[in-house]
Amino acid sequence: MSASIPFNKPVHLGTELDAIAQAIHVSAHTAGGGPFGKKCEERLEGLLKARTLLVTSCTHALEMAGMLLGLKPGDEFIVPSFTFVSTANAFLLRGAKPVFVDCDLDGNIDLADVQRSITPRTKAIVAVHYAGSSCDMRRLLELAGQIPVVEDAAQSITATFDGKPLGTFGAMGALSFHETKNIGSGEGGALIVNDPRFVERAEYIRDKGTNRRRFLNGLVDKYTWVDEGSSYVLSDLNAAYLWTQLVALEQIQARRRAIYERYEAELGPLAAKLGVHVVSPSPHVKGNQHLFALVMNSLEQRSRFITHMKDRGVMTPFHYVALHKSPMGAKLHDGRALPVTERLSDGLVRFPLFYNLTDADLERVIAAAQEFLHGAA
Ligand SMILES: Cc1ncc(COP(=O)(O)O)c(C=O)c1O
Repeated sequence: MSASIPFNKPVHLGTELDAIAQAIHVSAHTAGGGPFGKKCEERLEGLLKARTLLVTSCTHALEMAGMLLGLKPGDEFIVPSFTFVSTANAFLLRGAKPVFVDCDLDGNIDLADVQRSITPRTKAIVAVHYAGSSCDMRRLLELAGQIPVVEDAAQSITATFDGKPLGTFGAMGALSFHETKNIGSGEGGALIVNDPRFVERAEYIRDKGTNRRRFLNGLVDKYTWVDEGSSYVLSDLNAAYLWTQLVALEQIQARRRAIYERYEAELGPLAAKLGVHVVSPSPHVKGNQHLFALVMNSLEQRSRFITHMKDRGVMTPFHYVALHKSPMGAKLHDGRALPVTERLSDGLVRFPLFYNLTDADLERVIAAAQEFLHGAA
């Protein structure tokens, strides 16, 4: 039997080792804040038109957002239950309480539920751009009023709402460069700082609470401790690796788009006949083909699908366990029903979608899924 097809493989371009060797031998700068990190930030800022700080993970970018907003015990933050744990943990770490809300069948935060959940204690609304899509961002900002919005844009590099990059609408946005994302640095991320009032402190917090960056840029004459902070700067070895992918971003996106469109064409109509939902970008969103995912009609149907695919050597994992149903989240949840979240949590499966997926493997995945969908009514 041929080798099994994983859900993800990190991007391999062939240029990575040269870039890393340059960091070691040419610039001889492997710590954070080196030439590759600077180039990556400039490239990201060109794409996003916003100040962007390269950091060690999206989780850490979200933690920085929690610090910058000054969340504290007694505060609440609104967060979808259908998300990765970091979206909630980052703010919980400040002592604030999550208020879990529902989403739609494409994983976008439910705005009516957000509106219902705002109280005088709400100090942040955290929207997740699931699969590189988003809710109606303009409506969300209207609802939020003075309450800061943080965008968990872990999955949404290059995706836009009404032509504006996701991650650039709220006070801050957080990108992930984990190996499962469209482009990556092994582990890595970026904090997009849209509200200029946060830029200076964001630099301090990233650099252990020091003014190191300002000192190196000749803006202050002493390198010293000025604020709270931690060690969130990305090493230049990781930045060198990320740089190769930023340079090839269009090429990587073109391959992902081709794979996504083939899945959509070959599986979409069959799925529709069975009432199986294809997770798709919302109106106004130009997606980034981060995920191809189906929402099966039941947990039982999804389990059969995953086993069927596994028997044919194809990995189609599910996620997320709804946060409000998890051992930690259940202790914090106010008890309200979040039916769409639970439906996604029971029904969603993700397909292999990565830059180096071969055409032959793509056809194997499609054939195996079609076989199931034909017989699954
Ligand atoms: C929605 C979301 N938020 C946050 C994260 C955390 O990203 P990182 O692994 O870069 O910390 C992920 C990672 O998968 C994610 O999917």
